[in-house]
Amino acid sequence: MIGKLNHVAIAVPDLAKAAAIYRDALGAKISAAVPQAEHGVTTVFVTLPNTKIELIAPLGDNSPIAKFLKRNPDGGMHHVCYEVPDIRAARDALKAAGARILGDGEPKIGAHGKPVLFLHPKDFAGTLVELEQA
Ligand code: CO
Repeated sequence: MIGKLNHVAIAVPDLAKAAAIYRDALGAKISAAVPQAEHGVTTVFVTLPNTKIELIAPLGDNSPIAKFLKRNPDGGMHHVCYEVPDIRAARDALKAAGARILGDGEPKIGAHGKPVLFLHPKDFAGTLVELEQA
């Protein structure tokens, strides 16, 4: 069912500092910071030859990553995103297999303008998993 690794998201307390280390020390191509008000994060996209890294920092008072950063004050890996050809079919198959879908279970438009869903980390080896329709 799963296809390519679309991105790995890393939550960071200081977006400019994290972006600078990817750009300057690692020599990666980075985007400008993109505020995603509907997701409660600001994102910097790091483009690698085979996938992307998304540096995400809290935006607003109710950011979904605020709690994560409280537990991980230096930042850390927040989720991995896998591509699937049909997100509703993937959701239905995963539900039938006993996996929990976060939120109301309906795909939302993600940071790349495509439908996404999040899966419960307890069902996926302790990792928050995002599915994105390819
Ligand atoms: Co993501």
